[in-house]
This record gives sequence, structure tokens and C-alpha cells, in this order.
Amino acid sequence: MKIGVFDSGLGGVLILKAIAKRLPEYDYEYYGDTKHVPFGNRSESEIYEFTKEAVEHLFEKGCLIVILACNTASAETLRKLQDEYLPKHYPDRRILGVIIPVVEEVIENTCKQVLLFGTQRTVGSGKYHLELGKRNEIQTKIEAIATPELVPFLENGEIDKAAEKTSTRIQERVDRGDAVDGVILGCTHYNLLLPKLRKQFPDITFFGQAEIIPEKVAVYLEAHPELESQLSRNGERNVYLTEHRPDYDRHLEELLEGKFV
Ligand code: DGL
Repeated sequence: MKIGVFDSGLGGVLILKAIAKRLPEYDYEYYGDTKHVPFGNRSESEIYEFTKEAVEHLFEKGCLIVILACNTASAETLRKLQDEYLPKHYPDRRILGVIIPVVEEVIENTCKQVLLFGTQRTVGSGKYHLELGKRNEIQTKIEAIATPELVPFLENGEIDKAAEKTSTRIQERVDRGDAVDGVILGCTHYNLLLPKLRKQFPDITFFGQAEIIPEKVAVYLEAHPELESQLSRNGERNVYLTEHRPDYDRHLEELLEGKFV
């Protein structure tokens, strides 16, 4: 059986690529809902329906575990899918999200004042605050900033523009005296901003999911040998998009930098 990765669009291939690099032996299926992207401003019920459809597709393709690489979907649908959908339809499969792994890293790094960049929905859901609040002993302060304008820039390869907009937001907080020591890039695409932002703000810890999730998946599989033993090992990678446009080939090529490891 395979590992499935879901995102609302193309950005999640950054997460897929990173997981496949860390765990190259397994088989992977990617589902990008390019027909419905962006999810960030949609209603909760739409996001649930589209995500459920994606998960269903991935399970039908033989995925044992599906990772919701999309923050918006993780924030709005994970709990309901795990509590209601899975037990009824696929009790032996698993669905994992990307929010808790990041929260664990923030705590591990003992950050005290964190900025979160994400979609309107991710920010509005309050899920990062909630999960941090459940585990946090040092009372990390978190300011969530919705930045839906970044996704189109990043989808078009305008990384410099997106990085500039993000760094302006960070600088504003620093200038007004906030002791920002952590920044969560809470959206699949924002991983592309990491090198530029790190260079500009060397004293801040940046949390990007393409760096965090692969190790968390490895640890999860180690802790669950009953699942790991069911995974097939042919090094297969399939990318499925709900809507194809000719320019997506180029975007995918750029995001994957040619090919998978
Ligand atoms: N992939 C989404 C996320 O990680 C962002 C793009 C969208 O709005 O669909 O939240």
C-alpha cells in the first residue's frame, strides 16, 4: 500500500518531494485539487467536501496513510475526518495533518513570540493556537496573519515579491518592539520563502513544513510497525491533478526541480 499526499493545489508537491527524499523506498500518490484551488477563502463545508473527495480517491488508489499537506484542510477537516469519516468507511487507514507536527517543533524550540502566516481559513480556525495551548508550558504568544495574496505570487514563481511582502510584515513587528523569535510558514507554498527569510532574519527560527513533516512521518512509521509493514516499496510516485492546464507542467517541473529523488 502507498502513502498519499493531498494539497489544494500544486504547492504540496514540495512536501511530497521532501518526504520522498527522506523515505525514498515507499510508493507515493499525490492529489492536487487544482480545480478548486484556492481553498483559503472557501466555506468550511466546501473544504470538507473537497478534502473528503481527495482522501477517498487516494484510498481507492491504495493509500494506507494520507497526509493532508494543506494547512487549510488540516485546520478545517482533519478532526472530523478522523472522528467521523474514517471509523465508518476506512477504519484501518490513517489520515494525518501538518499542524500538530509544527506546534511540537515550536515547543521544542521554546519560542515565546511567534508569527503565523497562513490562509484566511487557517488563521480564522484558530487551530494553531488551540494545539499550542493544549501542549504549551511556556505560554508562547502567537500572532496569526492571513496572507492569501502570497499564493498567486508563488504559483507564478515570483518568490522575490512574496518574500518581500512577508519580510515587510515581520519587520513591522520587530520595529514596533515585538520580540519575535519564531515564524510559522503555515501554507504549503510558503516553504519556497525559507532561504530568503532566513538570510534576512538570522535570529528568528523559521518553521517550514517541507523540513518538519518528513522526519515526523519517519518517526510515525517507526512507532507503527503494523502500518509500516503494509507499505509497498517500489519507489513509485504518481501525481494526479483534478484539473490540468498546460502551464502546470512547467510549475511542477520548477517545484520538483526536475524530478523526484
Ligand atoms: N495549500 C493551502 C494551505 O496550505 C494554501 C492554498 C489555498 O488557499 O488553497 O493552506
